Amino acid sequence: MPDGAETAPRSKFSEIGDQTTGTLRPTSKPRQNITMQVKQGFPGTVGDTPLIEIQSLSALTGCRILAKAEHLNPGGSIKDRAALFMVEAAEKSGELNPKPSAGQGRSTVVEGTAGNTGIGLALMCRARDYRCIIVMPNNQSDEKVSCLRALGAEVELVEPCAFANQAHYYHTARRRAEEVKGFWANQFENLANAAAHEEGTGPELWRQSDGQLDGFVCAAGTGGTIGGVSRYLKSVKPSISTWMIDCEGSSLYSNVTNGTLDAEGSSFLEGVGIKRITANFALARLDGAFRGLDSEAIEMVYWLLKKDGLFVGGTSGLNCVGAVKLARKLGPGKVIGTVLCDGGGRYQSRMFNREWLQDEELVVTDTTDLSFVKDA
Ligand SMILES: Cc1ncc(COP(=O)(O)O)c(C=O)c1O
Repeated sequence: MPDGAETAPRSKFSEIGDQTTGTLRPTSKPRQNITMQVKQGFPGTVGDTPLIEIQSLSALTGCRILAKAEHLNPGGSIKDRAALFMVEAAEKSGELNPKPSAGQGRSTVVEGTAGNTGIGLALMCRARDYRCIIVMPNNQSDEKVSCLRALGAEVELVEPCAFANQAHYYHTARRRAEEVKGFWANQFENLANAAAHEEGTGPELWRQSDGQLDGFVCAAGTGGTIGGVSRYLKSVKPSISTWMIDCEGSSLYSNVTNGTLDAEGSSFLEGVGIKRITANFALARLDGAFRGLDSEAIEMVYWLLKKDGLFVGGTSGLNCVGAVKLARKLGPGKVIGTVLCDGGGRYQSRMFNREWLQDEELVVTDTTDLSFVKDA
């Protein structure tokens, strides 16, 4: 309850209601002593997400599985946090100018992204009146592309290719930023990304779980989340167990477990998996890594919907697979945290489309236990 709320009337209508008929009339002026709970636009609404207990997973693992509902951020994903921090850091350093003087053009933000960071940046750009250019590989969901365009971003789609190829979306974004003399957000190497989680997600998780967390696990795309959250949690509780879960086709599992950058297979998951060590991932303080299969992630996405009423994307499924694996490793009675990265609506034409599942040879069963989560 906010300060003063106990003594304040419940609403501006309640005080002068007609006591005989029970009807209410508004006062002519709002009362001054009510503490309003108001957030300021997009930037003020990012973060402070609820911590949800995933009851079905808690019941079957004997641990408490707690997930930050990052899909409830105003742009619909955990990447709103990185977008906010990167733009604000660039404003502080003078790379972006929210108040150009007469004759000066608007600042431009450019980023290469699988989509969610672009959505956060596009909204941030609207809030600050910046131009926004997003470079994306053309194999991402149509929902994300059409959303970006609807938000006012200029979207450039490029062929997916190896990172070493200069046509990769990352290098294309850098060149585009140089051409338009814009600010290249560079979420992979920009440490404002991890700072968003070290100063935001991590402390929120710790406070909301009343400092009772025993473990944390999530996957990595840029490494901002795992880098920032693991650093914060280790700083407040050095004995906490911090793990990552890595999808097929990514090199981080091999990097954490034996220092190499080997990768096998490929994954349909959007936003996670990487074959190099980014500056943000290098910050991570990890005790170990799990492998996560597409088949486990998709089964978990449907499980969360059917058992818990949570409609989330594939990487959230992967993170919850990681939470089950960590619960098994730590044993019953522990408290384990993770993050739900974005909502399922962003993937309706893919993961929630029967034909697409068939094409990808992905099977969803009616399982009532967690045997679909492999032990390794
Ligand atoms: C859906 C989704 N999940 C997870 C991640 C990974 O987060 P991070 O970049 O902080 O490693 C991303 C990143 O873009 C994402 O879009």
